[in-house]
Amino acid sequence: PSLLRSLRSAASHLSRRGYATEPVPERKVAVLGAAGGIGQPLSLLMKLNPLVSSLSLYDIAGTPGVAADVSHINTRSEVVGYQGEEELGKALEGADVVIIPAGVPRKPGMTRDDLFNINAGIVKSLCTAIAKYCPHALVNMISNPVNSTVPIAAEVFKKAGTYDEKRLFGVTTLDVVRAKTFYAGKANVPVAGVNVPVVGGHAGITILPLFSQATPKANLDDDIIKALTKRTQDGGTEVVEAKAGKGSATLSMAYAGALFADACLKGLNGVPDVVECSFVQSTVTELPFFASKVIELPPLHTFQILRLSILWPV
Ligand code: NAD
Ligand code: LMR
Repeated sequence: PSLLRSLRSAASHLSRRGYATEPVPERKVAVLGAAGGIGQPLSLLMKLNPLVSSLSLYDIAGTPGVAADVSHINTRSEVVGYQGEEELGKALEGADVVIIPAGVPRKPGMTRDDLFNINAGIVKSLCTAIAKYCPHALVNMISNPVNSTVPIAAEVFKKAGTYDEKRLFGVTTLDVVRAKTFYAGKANVPVAGVNVPVVGGHAGITILPLFSQATPKANLDDDIIKALTKRTQDGGTEVVEAKAGKGSATLSMAYAGALFADACLKGLNGVPDVVECSFVQSTVTELPFFASKVIELPPLHTFQILRLSILWPV
């Protein structure tokens, strides 16, 4: 009887999530910068996601090869590669979620702000196309400096008359992933059950892991908390230095980007209680944008606008 109970409970859980009794909705995901260091493994991970029905891989070069390669994987989504600006519109048309890892990465000695001049222009042109071809898509901004590229995207969308602050997300999931990993190591707990909210922004001291709210609780000394905080804030630089001129985090970022996109797809599909930290337009401080916990409340209809409420962490 206890096995039966477990099976019943699993079935009801799945049907609440829309997997068992309802068909999984069609969802198009576009990756912009798909041939890059993040773009390639991220495209692979999105191909493995059963919530994706159409996977659109765009870059200025190299996407036919990446798309051909990924398309041979026997999972649900149809994969199409688009190359060059003249194909950007087709890549974006009908997209529900657009993930943007396009742009240059750091080299040792650089800050994320040093990427501003090049990446601002790239993000501006991509967001101009998003406003035109898929104005209702959820935008997951990975390109750095996230603290600036998200406000740039907001301005582009405002100018185009398509801005909806509940659809624009700076991806700070890698900060959360790092904080969880480092905390689990010091607290000596299984990492799979760890949660650590990370608020603020995505650069140096603006990255604020809230280890005081980490679960499961561990009585870590202040100097350990300080060291964990610093390691999380410097996590990007740790990878940039280790790669010694060959770029910044790509594999862990692809993992983090895939987690965040999956949360967006679940939110769109009406799965309740999806909570992630993200850099979003905010009123929780005097800053116009701030990363904090964002909860995706299920829409009344599948395609209705997502309602997000930003929760100041307690
Ligand atoms: P990369 O150079 O390996 O790849 C970038 C890709 O973007 C390339 O394939 C390039 O052709 C493409 N690209 C350039 N201009 C484009 C355009 N106009 N349209 C479409 N694609 C274009 O770099 P990467 O390592 O993949 O990093 C990409 C960005 O992600 C960088 O800005 C990096 O700083 C950022 N990043 C952010 C996080 C985060 O936590 N948010 C983590 C790691 C990296
Ligand atoms: C990261 O946190 O790894 C990214 O923002 C890349 C970088 O430049 O540090």
